[in-house]
Amino acid sequence: MPNQKPISQTSLILFLSLFLLIIVPEVTSKSTIEPCTNSDSCNALLGYTLYTDLKVSEVASLFQIDPISLLTANSIDISYPDIEHHILPSNLFLKIPISCSCVDGIRKSVSTQYKTRPSDSLSSIADSVYGGLVSADQLREANSITDSSVLDVGQNLVVPLPCTCFNGTDNSLPAIYLSYVVKQVDSLAAIAAKYFTTLTDLMNVNALGSTAIDDGDILAVPIPACASNFPKYASDYGLLVPNGSYAITAGHCVQCSCGPRNLNLYCMPSSLAASCSSMQCKSSNLMIGNVTLQQTGGGCNVTSCNYDGIANGTIITTLSPSLQPRCPGPQEFPDLIAPPTTVTSESIFGPAPAPQSHGNGLTTPKSSVVPSTGPFPGFSPANGPVSGIASAASAACSLVNPLPATLTSALLLLLVTLMLPEAL
Ligand SMILES: *[C@@H]1O[C@H](CO)[C@@H](O)[C@H](O)[C@H]1NC(C)=O
Ligand SMILES: *[C@@H]1O[C@H](CO)[C@@H](O)[C@H](O)[C@H]1NC(C)=O
Ligand SMILES: *[C@@H]1O[C@H](CO)[C@@H](O)[C@H](O)[C@H]1NC(C)=O
Ligand SMILES: *[C@@H]1O[C@H](CO)[C@@H](O)[C@H](O)[C@H]1NC(C)=O
Ligand SMILES: *[C@@H]1O[C@H](CO)[C@@H](O)[C@H](O)[C@H]1NC(C)=O
Repeated sequence: MPNQKPISQTSLILFLSLFLLIIVPEVTSKSTIEPCTNSDSCNALLGYTLYTDLKVSEVASLFQIDPISLLTANSIDISYPDIEHHILPSNLFLKIPISCSCVDGIRKSVSTQYKTRPSDSLSSIADSVYGGLVSADQLREANSITDSSVLDVGQNLVVPLPCTCFNGTDNSLPAIYLSYVVKQVDSLAAIAAKYFTTLTDLMNVNALGSTAIDDGDILAVPIPACASNFPKYASDYGLLVPNGSYAITAGHCVQCSCGPRNLNLYCMPSSLAASCSSMQCKSSNLMIGNVTLQQTGGGCNVTSCNYDGIANGTIITTLSPSLQPRCPGPQEFPDLIAPPTTVTSESIFGPAPAPQSHGNGLTTPKSSVVPSTGPFPGFSPANGPVSGIASAASAACSLVNPLPATLTSALLLLLVTLMLPEAL
């Protein structure tokens, strides 16, 4: 019967819509966030595209972070004079390092506040200033705004930002999660390729049933990282540095890098002007980052002086000897780039590239941040990657909303259209 097909379609759609109405009680355009129970926070990244030209310090204050950590997270050379006043170009994609906490049972960062300016609206703040990382509805809710047509100038708004921890691991390997706002031109496969992960992994992490993604969706993208093994009482406990980048810690005294050859965190004194406690390992003449090698009959006797966090303003060091089959080569460092002044088309139209792959402005690491080769071959067995850790409990959690509002309305509309002829 010719009638049968429409009927079964209708029932299917009706079923689907009811199902959606049940599982998506409140349809917002962004963020289903990792549920959490403990109060531990973790290091996370936000993928942010500049809406206008902004100074380094302005971007940092938009997210209330240290300008130096913004630069090092993006492997930008901080030895340039007056670097904090350098103007970053509109449309530049940056990774913003933030602390991800657990608030009311979900992971988010709420340490960011925004002071409203004349002509701001909730949607301009959400879509433009914060690049789609937050929605106007989320701003309204977080700040209990009833009438959003009246924003007082100079009002401080809490800006809840999406982030995930997933225990700092992905498939049992150390990982840091980037909250990535999908652009119209993006495909899941391209995002996976760009961030050295797989399509399957991205789908698992975000609990996606298909590879379809929409403009404005927020994905959690796992990036391989170097884990630290600092004691719990260290104030930088849980430091996690993404592959290919740097972090500054211990009150600007220590810099830690990750990659490119292996994912062992490597820390050494930074050359930023700061007053620092001793960085020498007890009962040795080694400083953090120094390594001695001694070829013996049984292999290579490696002794390294490692950074182990900072507690009460005191830098913790550990001297760790190990016997290895072969002596490690010299420490390698991630490439640094010059402060960007232009944006390549790739960084506008593709998923944002890792800073190293910007064609322009590549510099060899130099002076202040990092020596081009370590003073000694580096090795840090004590801070090696954590192994054998729990799995993708992540599969059930997602930053991506299962179904955007527009799609739900479209389905409902379709349902009505299909049911009408039958009712007649
Ligand atoms: C780390 O990044 C480098 C490029 O900077 C890449 O060659 C390497 O495969 C990455 N490592 C992992 C584990 O993703
Ligand atoms: C140890 O490391 C410091 C700081 O990185 C460096 O200046 C020094 O040359 C190294 N010295 C030795 C003996 O390893
Ligand atoms: C390795 O070197 C350290 C310090 O140089 C020394 O104390 C230790 O005895 C050496 N171990 C071996 C097995 O040679
Ligand atoms: C830090 O200092 C406080 C008081 O000065 C002390 O109570 C605490 O035990 C110290 N913690 C560590 C880890 O040294
Ligand atoms: C989280 O990771 C730690 C090691 O980093 C591990 O000991 C712990 O079991 C993991 N917890 C879960 C819930 O996966």
